[in-house]
Amino acid sequence: MTPLLSLRGLGVRIGGVAPVSGVSLDVGRGEVLGLVGESGSGKSLTMRAVLRLLPPAAQVTGQVLWEGQDLTTLPEGGIRKVRGGQIAMVFQEPMTALNPVLPVGLQITESLGEHLGLRGAAARRRAVELLDQVGIPDAARRLGAYPHEFSGGMRQRAMIAIALAAGPKLLLADEPTTALDVTIQDQILKLLLRLKDELDMSVVLVTHDLGVVAGTCDRVAVLYAGRVMETGPTERLFTRPSHAYTLGLLHSLPDAAQARQRLRGIPGVPPDPAALPSGCRFAPRCAYAVAACRLEQPPLVPVAEAQESACLRAADLLAAGREAA
Ligand SMILES: Nc1ncnc2c1ncn2[C@@H]1O[C@H](COP(=O)(O)OP(=O)(O)OP(=O)(O)O)[C@@H](O)[C@H]1O
Ligand code: SF4
Ligand SMILES: [Mg+2]
Repeated sequence: MTPLLSLRGLGVRIGGVAPVSGVSLDVGRGEVLGLVGESGSGKSLTMRAVLRLLPPAAQVTGQVLWEGQDLTTLPEGGIRKVRGGQIAMVFQEPMTALNPVLPVGLQITESLGEHLGLRGAAARRRAVELLDQVGIPDAARRLGAYPHEFSGGMRQRAMIAIALAAGPKLLLADEPTTALDVTIQDQILKLLLRLKDELDMSVVLVTHDLGVVAGTCDRVAVLYAGRVMETGPTERLFTRPSHAYTLGLLHSLPDAAQARQRLRGIPGVPPDPAALPSGCRFAPRCAYAVAACRLEQPPLVPVAEAQESACLRAADLLAAGREAA
């Protein structure tokens, strides 16, 4: 079956450098895909490239196939219909995405009008339902409230309500909970999973937190220096990683399934996109590197059922398993 969203060799160039180069991944129907990687690995730019929410100077290469249609060649009017209507995005910091001078209710009814043609009392009724659905108490009264009148968690819920107004098939959630405390994070993640089931959506969840990935994602794509290093079912990646970078991430956590912390612990830092090493981009930090790793960039290839890796030593790593390596 055609994936809902399929990125094929997606690249983003800004001012002579390419912070994203050759991202290929699929998102299936009803699936939650986790997108993980250290800071600066290109997670946000990849999500923004899908919806063409990039700075004007940015150039996009490759394909963004949405139900088989390439969004990169769609005219601006076409992408506007997809954006918000079929694919919605929530951002890490809701204050940057919410309009501070418009009541939250109005921001929802605007989207309902634009994408579904709902207006007046019908739009207001639906807006109350949506606020209710995301767990905002006393929804009818809160319709007239401004974003600054909401707490952080409530603001994030309001942003999710706006994102879901038009009934999108895919939600791109870019670190939707990082700015919140852990209890509220859990509530928002549970809410996203419940809404995903209720609304029959797919979700791409961008996160630093492998604990969150273990608890919420069906599959994972691991990004490093603008490229996909490994993809596969979550449990598989956690138990049988086939890329030395994934293994490094897992080893940097005492217990990946439970840890609540940001990715760290691999010695060294990711490369500057303006000065990428030759061959495998992880080679300068990799404990498994051999001479061949520095010659050519290893392509992302299938290494096991539903698992792809861009590591020359995938077979050795798979044979060793996570614990033995
Ligand atoms: N508007 C921009 N102009 C130039 N470079 C940019 C721009 N936005 C991002 N970059 C660069 O692209 C790279 C990837 O950025 P991106 O924001 O996608 O990373 P990320 O994986 O989302 O990181 P984080 O986890 O910190 O959010 C970084 O090196 C960043 O400095
Ligand atoms: S290809 Fe080589 S350098 Fe890159 S992650 Fe695999 S072993 Fe390490
Ligand atoms: Mg980001």
